[in-house]
This record gives sequence, C-alpha cells and structure tokens, in this order.
Amino acid sequence: MKKALLAVSFGTSVPGADAAIISAEASLREACPDRDPFRAFTSRIICRKLREEGRPVPTPEEALEQILEDGYTDVVIQPTHLIPGREYEKLCSIAAGYEDKFEKLSVSTPLISSPDDLKAAAEVVISHYPPQEGKALVLMGHGTGHIANMVYPALQTAFRLMGQENVFVGTVEGWPEIEEIIEQLGKSGCRNVDLAPFMLVAGDHAVNDMAGDEPDSWKSMLEREGYTVHCSMEGIGGWKEIHDIFRRHLLEDCLD
Ligand code: CO
Repeated sequence: MKKALLAVSFGTSVPGADAAIISAEASLREACPDRDPFRAFTSRIICRKLREEGRPVPTPEEALEQILEDGYTDVVIQPTHLIPGREYEKLCSIAAGYEDKFEKLSVSTPLISSPDDLKAAAEVVISHYPPQEGKALVLMGHGTGHIANMVYPALQTAFRLMGQENVFVGTVEGWPEIEEIIEQLGKSGCRNVDLAPFMLVAGDHAVNDMAGDEPDSWKSMLEREGYTVHCSMEGIGGWKEIHDIFRRHLLEDCLD
C-alpha cells in the first residue's frame, strides 16, 4: 500500500514568504515519515503566477492526479489554512471528487477548527509577542465574508479572557476592520503599536496592506493617528508551536 501526504496551502508568490509554508510542510512530513510528501496551493491566481515565473506549484487537482498516477492508494490531505472558510471548503469538494479513486482519502482540518485550537493559537501569539507596558499588539487577520470569519472576533475574545487587554485582532477582508481597531486602540491609552500578521505567511497583505507606505496601509493609518508603529514581518506558519497544532490535527483526524 503506497501512502501519500498532501500538504495544501493557500500559497504566496512573494519571494521568501514561502519559507513559512516550506517549514510547515517539513514539520508535517516529519509527523508521518511512512508517507511520501506532496504539496499544492489552492489559489488559482498564485498557481498561475508561479507557473509563469517558472517555479510551478500544483493545484490540489494536479497534485491528486499525480498521486493517482504514481499508484498511491492511501492519501491524507493536511491543509495549512487558518480557518474552515471558502478555501477549505473548496479543497474538501475537490477531494470528494477523488474519494472513489483511492482506497483511503481523508482531509484533515485547518489550524483553528475548535475552541481549543483557538485558545492554543492565542497562547502561541502571546509567547511570540510578549506584552509590554504601554504597547499594543495589533494583529492583521485575513478575514472573509464566510461565517468562519467568526474566528477573528473569537480570537479577540480569547485574548480578553486571558487578561490581554492590549491585543487587537483586525482583518483586511472581513470584520472587524482597521477603523474599528483604531477606535478601540484610542481607549487603550497605548501610544506604541506592534503590527503583526495573523496569517500563515507575511505575503502580499502583510507587505502592502499592513506595512506598506501607501496612505491606506494599516501602518500609515496608525501613524496618522499619532502612534509609533513597529511592524513584525513574520508569518505564523514559521512557528514550531503552530506546526504542533497542524500535526495534532493530522494525527487525530487522519492517521490510525
Ligand atoms: Co487576500
């Protein structure tokens, strides 16, 4: 029985930002050494761009076709997506189309798939960005119109319940938005802000929407409000403790 592990990420085309994805994939590989590793990205736009640049990464369909062709019969898919939103649902429906082609095919869950995952992720963030007097931490999540966007306000609540009053969770494409975060920040009394992505990679959103010099970046908006801003350009996908959560999902959900 040939066994495969398919690690699936949203993807990034920002050179160097993929280091976080590569390290997460390496950690997953180590968790199941009896499986041959494969990778794929769910973003069609990024896959196309990488192909044009001559450094292609397969889509999940292309990877599954390859795995099938290579004669594997047992496949486990681990997404590195953060929330069970649209990209994850898309992956599940792609995988469903291959169910009868393999003896066993299972799709594990994204990073935050339970209240325990949420609390664990909040702890990990605090251990990487320890609280400092008079300083706020503003996290940039991706956000979505999908109901899974609730992960972000829930993460905010997790920080409050941990007693972290000066940690704020905003999103680029969901809710809460930066304007709402700025209003909350004003009440905090902090004048210094650490800005950091709550995303797998510090890719396009972190580089441009968070830390960019354009007037509508989060950094520029906060500086206009008089805050001293420091940007951390680190995707959480490079952190060992985040790998541990993915590995736990992989082992619990898929391997027997
Ligand atoms: Co986006």
